[in-house]
Amino acid sequence: MAFKSHNYTLLPQGESEPLTASRQRTKWNWKRILHFTIPGILVLVLVLFLSISQAIKGSKDPQVFPHPDTTACPQFPAIESLSDDRKKLETEVRDKIGSDDFFNESLKRMQGAVQIPTESFDDMGKVGEDPRWDVFIEFHDYLKKTFPLVYSKLEFTPINTYGILLEWKGKDESLKPYLFMAHQDVVPVLKVTESRWKYPPYSAHYDGRYIWGRGATDCKNNLIGVLEAFEILLEKDFTPGRSILAGFGFDEEISGPQGAQFIAKHLEDTRGKDSIELIVDEGGLGIQVVDGATFALPGLGEKGYFDVRITVETSGGHSSVPPDHTGIGILSQVISAVEAEPYEPELTPANPYFTTLQCSAEYAPDMDSWLRKTIKKSLKSKKAAKSVADYIAKKNVFQRYLMQTSQATDLISGGVKINALPEKVYAVINHRIAVESHVDDIRSKLRTLVESKILKKFSMSLDAWGDVSGNTSSSAVGQIILEDFDMPLEPSPVSPFDTDAYKTFTGTIKQVMGEDIIVAPSLMTGNTDTKFYWGLTPNIYRFSPMREEGRANAHTVDERVGMKEHIEAVKFYAQLILNGDGS
Ligand SMILES: *[C@@H]1O[C@H](CO)[C@@H](O)[C@H](O)[C@H]1NC(C)=O
Ligand SMILES: *[C@@H]1O[C@H](CO)[C@@H](O)[C@H](O)[C@H]1NC(C)=O
Ligand SMILES: [Zn+2]
Repeated sequence: MAFKSHNYTLLPQGESEPLTASRQRTKWNWKRILHFTIPGILVLVLVLFLSISQAIKGSKDPQVFPHPDTTACPQFPAIESLSDDRKKLETEVRDKIGSDDFFNESLKRMQGAVQIPTESFDDMGKVGEDPRWDVFIEFHDYLKKTFPLVYSKLEFTPINTYGILLEWKGKDESLKPYLFMAHQDVVPVLKVTESRWKYPPYSAHYDGRYIWGRGATDCKNNLIGVLEAFEILLEKDFTPGRSILAGFGFDEEISGPQGAQFIAKHLEDTRGKDSIELIVDEGGLGIQVVDGATFALPGLGEKGYFDVRITVETSGGHSSVPPDHTGIGILSQVISAVEAEPYEPELTPANPYFTTLQCSAEYAPDMDSWLRKTIKKSLKSKKAAKSVADYIAKKNVFQRYLMQTSQATDLISGGVKINALPEKVYAVINHRIAVESHVDDIRSKLRTLVESKILKKFSMSLDAWGDVSGNTSSSAVGQIILEDFDMPLEPSPVSPFDTDAYKTFTGTIKQVMGEDIIVAPSLMTGNTDTKFYWGLTPNIYRFSPMREEGRANAHTVDERVGMKEHIEAVKFYAQLILNGDGS
């Protein structure tokens, strides 16, 4: 995943006494229930009346309220195969993956993969020109040696040299393929941090529980896990009903200028738009226990990304006779004005995090009772949704940014000489755009802000993405320019959670990882390589099929992955492939 992960949790933790609905219910006896029946019916009628009138009122709220679904947190059953043959094959595959033999081999496969330092650097040159890419040759050789059936029976297409596309032809061409994604590259280990690792970062040391090393959990585990699932099914002579694809980019950690986007383009060129049934990529928060329930949290959407450069140009001159405000001073005022008006948390049903919360209100027994009530209310009431958003935002900064656009001034540059007035200074603001918003909303907010707060004070002109306003006379103080710093990215489309693809995907999670698991759609604040694949399918699931305790420290020292959890992930991938043809 291409963003720094912290030790966060996606759901608000309960803080009051546990309020377990089922625990209360077990205390009831039939006498008490009868005793409450008559007043109960009266209350029921009243509640019904109130909720109908509320629903009518609610439907006047703008667009998204009331929540369109009848079920706030839809759950679909664990998949069960229909035929005896299939059941037999499933058992064989599961037993094989669960064997000691497999565990030992899988450990070796994972270690070998982690030991190859496939680092991608921000300043990487083109493939074929920058020798730092050469390590991927070794990685490809390793994969070919380690997965002989995959490479002999599947069609392998190298894309832009190091991109990997594997196509496993299914029996039925009319079914759209499943696509499994991962990236081959890892975040570089900084020399200065190397000594802080408990075990050297490319030693792939196994301590009996975890494999330690860069890439162990982001995301050679996904890549190796997918190929292990392929290899086992090939060993069993399995032919999938629908085609199964794997697409592995090699520069995800530097935003993917040369890798996955060419794989996506190749797929669109050869198969056409909307030609894939579903995509599973790394990401999301895996499987976590929160407030007394176990949640699988696939990312069904991603926030957008937008960097804006603000440049202030003023006339130079000698520093001994300065104006009251230099270019640096004016730029500072722009940044202050931006920070004085941050975006606000808002929660709407368009946001997958809204659904995460509905799921926790529905299924997490230990959630704070006020919060549970208010989250449920927010299905119909915008006001309740706002209370929830404000409450959660105050408690936890990570959760806050699941509900709003973030803005952070991360770069500043200006001034060349201590006795000369700065003629050109600039700052860059990084935004992660809320799912309900757009790149253009950010542009217009900044433009309005500069016009109302800065142009009022200084006779300057403003060039906001080519639109010029303010004082353009040559005697004016100067000019402010607002422009894109690099390629903006709109928030992703949100994957629907009522499709057959979603039912199969979530049904497989429950089948492999436990029927008690609640699958809760979630939102990602960072972006994976899936950003290039929006045209191929609406059903994109960013989900590393791993329990929380099996993953640690992606992007930092002591990154590691639990072997037990890795084995479970292989089972998940294999079962999803089996479930793909509906037998
Ligand atoms: C797996 O590896 C462990 C540790 O090296 C060893 O004790 C065990 O016998 C191996 N199991 C198999 C089935 O090879
Ligand atoms: C533009 O700025 C100059 C210099 O400060 C000033 O003399 C002029 O009146 C301004 N023009 C307008 C239209 O505000
Ligand atoms: Zn990753």
